[in-house]
Amino acid sequence: MSSRHFLDLADAGGDAIAAMIADAIDRKAARAGRARGQADADAPLAGRTLAMIFEKSSTRTRVSFDMAIRQLGGTSIVMDAGSMQLGRGETIADTARVLSRYVDAIMIRTDDHAKLTELAAHATVPVINGLTDLSHPCQIVADLLTVVEHGKALPGSVWAWLGDGNNVLHSIVEAAGLMKFAVRIGVPDGYDPDPAIVAAAVAAGADIRTVRDAAGAVAGADIVVTDTWISMGQAHADEKLAAMMPFQVDEALMARAKPDALFLHCLPAHRGEEVTDEVIDGPRSVVWDEAENRLHAQKSVLLWCFGLIG
Ligand code: CP
Ligand code: NVA
Repeated sequence: MSSRHFLDLADAGGDAIAAMIADAIDRKAARAGRARGQADADAPLAGRTLAMIFEKSSTRTRVSFDMAIRQLGGTSIVMDAGSMQLGRGETIADTARVLSRYVDAIMIRTDDHAKLTELAAHATVPVINGLTDLSHPCQIVADLLTVVEHGKALPGSVWAWLGDGNNVLHSIVEAAGLMKFAVRIGVPDGYDPDPAIVAAAVAAGADIRTVRDAAGAVAGADIVVTDTWISMGQAHADEKLAAMMPFQVDEALMARAKPDALFLHCLPAHRGEEVTDEVIDGPRSVVWDEAENRLHAQKSVLLWCFGLIG
């Protein structure tokens, strides 16, 4: 098996991401009726071990990757960085060298993206980005899968992002460049995404526009997506919450999107802040499918890392 890192969506590219989505749909259907802890019939990663390092909290990423590697026939070791020597100052590079002698792949959730790239530079096994302050590519594979599963074609679709210009938005913008969809970035002034990530997607042919009013951002959108206004590691700031409030996704805002628009949220949600109960619990919300699809998408990411997809 070959081995490659999944640090951002561009590491795979558009064709491989399309293959990951197709494989996830096939695997999901093929294991219908199996117990959740039972491996897929082909158990393609039998004998493989995934180590996971968490420097930040997680529910979905932790559990979906753990179940993903089990369903592929492998096993996992889950570590909180604080209980590792990493938390006492052992370097990322040395941690990478050591873990590469024990396990077959490493997933890390951390703050500084440079820690992820440092880990990848010194690991001899695949490294997967389980979220950094800069990006969250695994989440977006699940989001793309969810949109396709709900019958929408990615090329030419219009996504409206409301709220903070954060890590999740960065990966959506990167996906737009790879899968050729449009993004309307509805963020208040001062909270824009990284301009280099936007410029790269525009250079790749994506139609990306920043729209300073929420209603303008969602007009005609196929997908409406938001995320917490205060990401992990950020200080609570009343000023930021006040700036974000006009970008809250409520029913009146959803009514401005296309009638069949889907609502996405990576979760955890802060109900009453970035989204109202009526929207997240409403008929156009697909957030629980999206959360489930973390499992199916993460299986595709793992298979791609081992050269078994794309
Ligand atoms: N969406 C997501 O990454 O969730 P967790 O923080 O629970 O892993
Ligand atoms: N933007 C959020 C995503 C959580 C899954 C954060 O970084 O906290």
